[in-house]
Amino acid sequence: MRLLVTGGSGFIGSNFIRHMLASREDVSIVNLDKLTYAGNPQNLADMAARHGGARYHFIKGDICDACLLDDILHGKAVDAVINFAAETHVDRSIADSAPFLTTNVMGTHALLEAARKARVERFVHISTDEVYGALGPTGTFTETTPLAPNSPYSASKAGADMLCRAYFKTHGMPVVVTRCSNNYGPYQFPEKLIPLMILKARAGEPLPVYGDGLHVRDWIHVLDHCRGVELALMKGEPGEVYNFGSDNEKANLEVVRTILAILGKSEDLIRFVADRPGHDRRYAMGYEKAQARLGFTPLIGFADGLRETVRWYEDNAAWLSAVQTGAYREFMDSWYGERK
Ligand code: NAD
Ligand code: DAU
Repeated sequence: MRLLVTGGSGFIGSNFIRHMLASREDVSIVNLDKLTYAGNPQNLADMAARHGGARYHFIKGDICDACLLDDILHGKAVDAVINFAAETHVDRSIADSAPFLTTNVMGTHALLEAARKARVERFVHISTDEVYGALGPTGTFTETTPLAPNSPYSASKAGADMLCRAYFKTHGMPVVVTRCSNNYGPYQFPEKLIPLMILKARAGEPLPVYGDGLHVRDWIHVLDHCRGVELALMKGEPGEVYNFGSDNEKANLEVVRTILAILGKSEDLIRFVADRPGHDRRYAMGYEKAQARLGFTPLIGFADGLRETVRWYEDNAAWLSAVQTGAYREFMDSWYGERK
């Protein structure tokens, strides 16, 4: 099976490519990635060395580039497209939403259109639980929960989901949408909660917790998400949406305290800072449909997964410092400077 994976040099895409190349000998992958601040060729240096030229091929490019997409998909060169490419950080979407609309909405449209023209047999679009908005203290999101996005990021992802729906309904395109809860694991860019807190704790710097720290996220290990995407690719029904989760609801403060405990650092490092505007209070993912129809079962418990993740960042200190470029520091200084 020949796959076009977009955004494969980011956190989840790189884990997915490594998982697929390791577990399926019949798979070859073209990775199309723009290499924004979040995309890093180092995330797949091992795969490029082992499979480069044969089963793995990297193209630096933009999913908004219709000509490039036509070139890549020309002549039925690809059996399936899996779209991970996106601007993904909620805080950045608050500071500057334009790139989110460009990539997440217009880019997904360009990819759908190119795949439609090339008659691609399968299109898996990677979405998020954030399109459902926020939950109260009880209940879970299901695939029939109405979309109610609250941030520019989640609004742009919901827009892309609606385009996927429209291309299925109007053009009969074999589109499958997956929506997943918060991922953690190796290669996550250190602007997101877990790697940022590991980085700060190791450096003995204050750990910025938004608001009262009691916002709840439902954490899933990235490998469990990747296995879910693989199932959606192989067994998903066109036109269907599948939620993936892992029954790991945790308040942010609990996650931060656990990281400090794993690293043997004091809770005195915790700093409560001004809240994120529009901050969703609670997410919890119901994934019974994926369990029943795809055979999806998350395998990695949060306690073990988090301990291994902390160890990965300790063992990969060079990776962690290399991604903290000038542009990274500029955003972090400005964003957290305003929250003191
Ligand atoms: P990430 O920010 O780590 O990686 C995104 C990748 O997309 C980067 O490699 C970047 O260079 C690439 N990219 C951005 N714009 C592009 C463009 N115009 N053309 C080509 N490539 C482009 O993101 P992630 O956390 O790995 O998320 C991947 C996908 O999964 C996203 O669609 C995101 O919405 C979704 N998702 C993420 C989570 C999570 O917890 N991280 C949960 C659910 C869904
Ligand atoms: O739910 C899936 C989504 O999870 C994905 O679609 C997004 O791409 C991904 O970024 C993530 O969004 P969140 O906003 O939930 O993740 P983030 O890591 O930014 O924040 C997690 C929680 O931690 C959230 O409640 C905000 C809080 N937080 C975050 C940061 C960066 C803090 O308290 N302090 C921080 O410094």
